[in-house]
Amino acid sequence: MPSTKFAGIGFYVPEQVVTNKDLTKYMDTSDDWIRERSGIEERRYGKKHEETPTTMAAAAAKIACERAGITVEEIDFIVFATLSPDYYFPGCGVLLQRELGITNTEIGALDIRNQCSGFIYGLSVADQFIKSGMYKNILLVGAEMHSMGLDFTTRGRNVAVLFGDGAGAVVLQPTEEEGKGVLTTHLHSDGTHAEELSLLSPGSHGGYHFEDKDKFGFPTEEEAPLGEIFVYDNLLENKTYYPYMDGQLVFKKAVTKFPEVIMEALAKTGYETTDIDMLVPHQANLRIAQFVQRTLKLPDEKVYNNIMKYGNTTAASIPIALCEAWEQGKVKEGDLVCLAAFGSGFTWGSALIRW
Ligand code: ACO
Repeated sequence: MPSTKFAGIGFYVPEQVVTNKDLTKYMDTSDDWIRERSGIEERRYGKKHEETPTTMAAAAAKIACERAGITVEEIDFIVFATLSPDYYFPGCGVLLQRELGITNTEIGALDIRNQCSGFIYGLSVADQFIKSGMYKNILLVGAEMHSMGLDFTTRGRNVAVLFGDGAGAVVLQPTEEEGKGVLTTHLHSDGTHAEELSLLSPGSHGGYHFEDKDKFGFPTEEEAPLGEIFVYDNLLENKTYYPYMDGQLVFKKAVTKFPEVIMEALAKTGYETTDIDMLVPHQANLRIAQFVQRTLKLPDEKVYNNIMKYGNTTAASIPIALCEAWEQGKVKEGDLVCLAAFGSGFTWGSALIRW
C-alpha cells in the first residue's frame, strides 16, 4: 500500500496588518492584555468584497501545486476545511475548483467542518483516499476569513482579538518510499461542550430567526398552523451570529488533549517525544502551545509558533505554520513532524509525518 507524502505546500495571508493597538480603536483592550494572554502581536485581515476563504485558498493552492510540480488540472480531489465559508452553502470546495479554473468534472470536492481540527481531519480523510489508491493528487486546504464575522465591540473582545485571516494548502500524493509520508493520524470528538466554542446563527435551531417577527407580522405560535416552528429567536438582540467562547474551559481542555493525542500518535508508531524533530501545533494561543511544549519537555527549536504574527487562523493555522517552518528550513527531508489540533466541537487530532 502506498503512503501519503506532502508533495507541495503553500500559504497566503492578506496584506493588511492589524496590530493590537489598532484594535484599541474599536474596543476596550490593550496590547499588553492581548500579548500576555495569547502571545498575539498582530494579525492579517482580508480585503472586504475582494478576498474570501476561497480566493485566499486559491492563492495558497497555486503555490502548493507549483512546488509539487503539477498543474491545477491534475488535481483529482479537493478537501476544504473552513469555519468561515464564503456561503452558507454550497461549500468552499467547489468554489475553489471554480476559482482555480479547474474544468475537469471527474474530480470531487469535500467540505470539512471541524474548525481548528479541520486540517488534521482533512489530512486523515485524504490519507485514506491516497492509501486506497483512489486519488493521486489531493489538494487539501484550510482557509479562514474571521475578520468578517467578529464582534469588534468591547462585548466581543475576548474572542475578536484572537483571530486572523489566511490560508494554507498542501498537495498530497502517493509514495512507495518505505517509511515516508503520513505515518498515522488520530481523530477524536466530544460533543458535550458543543456550544462552549461556537457560532450558533444562522442555523436551524432557532426557527425563522432571519426575520423580525414584529416587523414582518408572523402569526403568533397559537395562530400559526405549524405551531412551534415559528419560535422566534431574536438573532439581532442576542447577537448569536458572533462567535462565543468559554475561554477558560477551552484552555483547560486544550492543554490536556493536545499532549494526549500527540502521545497517542507516538505510541502507535513506537516513537518517543525525543524523536520529534518538529511539532507544529494548531496556533490557538501561545500560552496553550507553551504549556504543551513544557508537558512534552520539547526544546524551543522543536516547536514552531507563528501566532504572534497571524493570530489564530483556525483551520488554516497548521498549514500556514508548517509551510513557514518548511520555507525557513526548519522542516527538512527525513524529519519526524508532528501536527496536533484541538478546537470547537470539541474535536481534536494528531498526525505524525516522516517528511
Ligand atoms: N482585552 C482586555 N480585557 C479583556 C479582553 C480583551 N481583549 N477580553 C477579556 N477581557 C477581560 C474580561 O472582561 C475580564 O474582565 P473582568 O475581570 O473585569 O471581568 C478579564 O479580562 C479576564 O477575563 P477572562 O476571560 O477570565 O480572561 P482569561 O485570563 O481567561 O483570558 C483567554 C482569556 C485569553 C481567552 C483565555 O481564557 C485563554 O487563553 N483561553 C484559551 C482559549 C483560546 O485561546 N482559544 C483560542 C480559540 S479556540 C481554539 O483555537 C482551540
